[in-house]
Amino acid sequence: TLVSDRPQDLAGTHVVVSAGGTREPLDPVRFLGNRSSGRQGVALARTAHARGARVTLVAANIDVPVPSGVDVVHAETGAELRDAVRAAAKDADVVVMAAAVADFRPRTSAESKIKKQADGAPTVLELVETVDILAELGAQRLRPGQVVVGFAAETGDQAGSVLEHGRAKARRKGADLLVVNAVGDGRGFGTDVNDVTILDGAGTVVGEASGSKSEVADAVWDAVLARR
Ligand code: CTP
Ligand code: CA
Repeated sequence: TLVSDRPQDLAGTHVVVSAGGTREPLDPVRFLGNRSSGRQGVALARTAHARGARVTLVAANIDVPVPSGVDVVHAETGAELRDAVRAAAKDADVVVMAAAVADFRPRTSAESKIKKQADGAPTVLELVETVDILAELGAQRLRPGQVVVGFAAETGDQAGSVLEHGRAKARRKGADLLVVNAVGDGRGFGTDVNDVTILDGAGTVVGEASGSKSEVADAVWDAVLARR
């Protein structure tokens, strides 16, 4: 049977895609999380598979179905995601960090449920920084020639525009490509459309896409192929 009528331009490549959002436990019932649905990462995995790649999807709490034909590894926290991505990336040609990874986690996770204090005094959460998985992959390739791709959800602010923040991040991360996504005002999260600019590691625009998350995914794979 016909698997795909798409050009098999990713045949012979192993791609690793992280998707979703990490959850950092506070106690047995609570976590610090984020609103990432996993749609963009899942679209990347589905599209890569349709174009002939072997795909490993590292899924953190995604709320959309996993595409068929894709190998899935589940991860809950940033630490689990890091271990799973690095294990899969050892023999990957491309690694795409589409997951929203918590920048901070609670310093400790309580063994039993945290209770309100009788006097109504506030509980202060102590947070520690997590490992930047993308920056680590960007600083030292796990395999020679591996293409490392990051995503950045940005809003413009007084310090700069969406693109200026994206450029600075591209240079900082050491990735080969950074997909910059304007968020806020209903754009980006939990929706089916997306609007992105693709930068190289120097911050130069190498691609643009707007439309469905599948169209964005195809533009990302086109930019990856242009580097190989
Ligand atoms: N990322 C990561 N590990 C982290 C934080 C982020 O691998 N601990 C990755 C994301 O998967 C994404 C990229 O880094 O591909 C950019 O994430 P983003 O949150 O935009 O960048 P930060 O460097 O965390 O900067 P900030 O949140 O301050 O804008
Ligand atoms: Ca962040």
